[in-house]
Amino acid sequence: MEDGILIRRGTEADLESIIAIGLSVWVDTYSPQGLSLEVSQYLGRKFSVHAITALLSSDDCAFFMAEKEGRVVGYTLLKRHVICPLSEDLDVEVATLYVLRGAQGLGIGGKLFRTGLEFAVSAWGSDRCWLRMSAKNSAAKKFYASHGFELIGSIWMEFDGAQSENFLLASKSHAAF
Ligand SMILES: CC(C)(COP(=O)(O)OP(=O)(O)OC[C@H]1O[C@@H](n2cnc3c(N)ncnc32)[C@H](O)[C@@H]1OP(=O)(O)O)[C@@H](O)C(=O)NCCC(=O)NCCS
Repeated sequence: MEDGILIRRGTEADLESIIAIGLSVWVDTYSPQGLSLEVSQYLGRKFSVHAITALLSSDDCAFFMAEKEGRVVGYTLLKRHVICPLSEDLDVEVATLYVLRGAQGLGIGGKLFRTGLEFAVSAWGSDRCWLRMSAKNSAAKKFYASHGFELIGSIWMEFDGAQSENFLLASKSHAAF
């Protein structure tokens, strides 16, 4: 931890941090100009105490938290038994990877991501993971490519009254790490 960054497993005690970081990074990344009522309601459900508590208590979910100098700055959430819409062979999803804006670009997202992938191998026996991301998120696309993930296709989803494209990515193999 020579750089002041600690990655650790998330627990019930992280409930409020997960909600605060989740809302902050989501709005910052996807809707910095403002929120429609539909999006606000979506966020209220996605980051509710009830929803995050259920994820924290599930054996099929694993959170990892990043701390910088003792303060929580990001987290990742992995889920197993979630089949990729484009490949039945892939059933471990990196569902969330969020780092607060003020802590981005310091290597924290990379550490969180690698920790999650290593956990998927050691605890769940899965050496390939998949994820979905907005096609408009060019920074994330570059980040995932540099971590050995490749595009396997895209799906369109209805969101906030419009169709939006989501890329599906999967790890080539853990040899890349
Ligand atoms: C995508 C995201 C998780 C990446 O996290 P991060 O902490 O910024 O990522 P890192 O710092 O590890 O890497 C980002 C870049 O910073 C650079 N970097 C890495 N370590 C660094 C360091 N110690 N100092 C400076 N720069 C560094 C790298 O060049 C890296 O570029 P690369 O993508 O070409 O490898 C983060 O930007 C984020 O939360 N974005 C908003 C939410 C989002 O888009 N999530 C993913 C959607 S599915």
